[in-house]
Amino acid sequence: MKYLKRKDFLMFGKPVIDEVEIQEVVDTLRSGWIGTGPKTQRFEQDFREYIGTKYTIALNSCTAALHLSLLALGIGSGDEVITTPLTFCATVNTIVHVGATPVFVDVEKETFNINSNLIEEKITENTKAIIVVHMAGRSCQMDRIMAIAKKHSLYVIEDAAHAIETKFKEEKVGTIGDIACFSFYANKNLTTAEGGMVTTDNVELAEKIRVLSLHGMDKDAWKRFGDNGYKHYDIITAGYKYNMTDIQASLGIHQFKKIDYFLERRREVWRIYDRELKGLPIVLPNKGVDGVHAMHLYQILTENRDEVLRRLNAENIGAGVHYLAIHLQTYYKNKFGFKVGSSPVAEDIASKTLSLPLSPYMTEEDAYDVVEAMCEVYGV
Ligand SMILES: Cc1ncc(COP(=O)(O)O)c(C=O)c1O
Repeated sequence: MKYLKRKDFLMFGKPVIDEVEIQEVVDTLRSGWIGTGPKTQRFEQDFREYIGTKYTIALNSCTAALHLSLLALGIGSGDEVITTPLTFCATVNTIVHVGATPVFVDVEKETFNINSNLIEEKITENTKAIIVVHMAGRSCQMDRIMAIAKKHSLYVIEDAAHAIETKFKEEKVGTIGDIACFSFYANKNLTTAEGGMVTTDNVELAEKIRVLSLHGMDKDAWKRFGDNGYKHYDIITAGYKYNMTDIQASLGIHQFKKIDYFLERRREVWRIYDRELKGLPIVLPNKGVDGVHAMHLYQILTENRDEVLRRLNAENIGAGVHYLAIHLQTYYKNKFGFKVGSSPVAEDIASKTLSLPLSPYMTEEDAYDVVEAMCEVYGV
């Protein structure tokens, strides 16, 4: 059977935005309070209740969340931060932004997550923290990682950009480390177009991050134009402009209500791929540790990855690569001297990984279009 090319391009990670989100944004625009305000507060509260930490701070990205987490933990020049080379550049760039040095630990072949068995050999007297990334929504081995952190007095930051729904065994990701950072970028499990959130149980860290996120103004400075009358602010540190706006939160509060439904839709597509692609000469994604897999990315491993990517695109199927190894990117090679072969498992995955479209926007028909295109590409 000859595959008939899709008429329209199947966008990778297309979000579902319903009328209710649109109306909430319009309501915010009409209210006049379009900056940080009551809707951001409500979104923070919803997130707090869902994740189960004492504090949440909504920001304009997960990158901002990572940056402020490192600053709030006092990490800076001369410090080393252990992380994975198989992640989005933001995880590592923010380590550099605070003046610290990234130290890469290779990943597990099956889960693509940092290999907890290799962490201890990279710990030095300068190591201050470990940033774990719950890749594709699959939890890292948090019991082992927390035990190592405790033994060596290290902080743990969870990069949970892919992992809003993820659980490690019975524990919610985002409640396990000292701080966690979430992303609401356009193709994430829940979107505010751009946005992020910090979760923590530590009041001091939460307050530092809140202040750093808005120029270093003292607490609740965003309320200064409210109906309780103008209040002066005091600058207590040289902070940043990382706050979330009520326009973004308007999307978030309605996306949140659909989070279980979105996951179920991604699960349906996942099941179709698992069932229909198993005869192809590719490696299908691993289910990961006990708990809940948030199924953010459906990553296969294939030979000739770039050719497969090109041919899928020609069949009107959008696909992605998550990720090329960070330590081999020009800046990191030049600045820190990282070499090919230093994280062999991550390098191998980086050369073969390809993410097929996976989004609650997709219909069953869309999923079968991807299957047919894959069969065409592999000549099956
Ligand atoms: C693992 C990981 N960390 C951090 C980020 C940064 O998120 P944001 O785009 O919200 O800054 C991303 C975004 O893709 C990511 O995938």
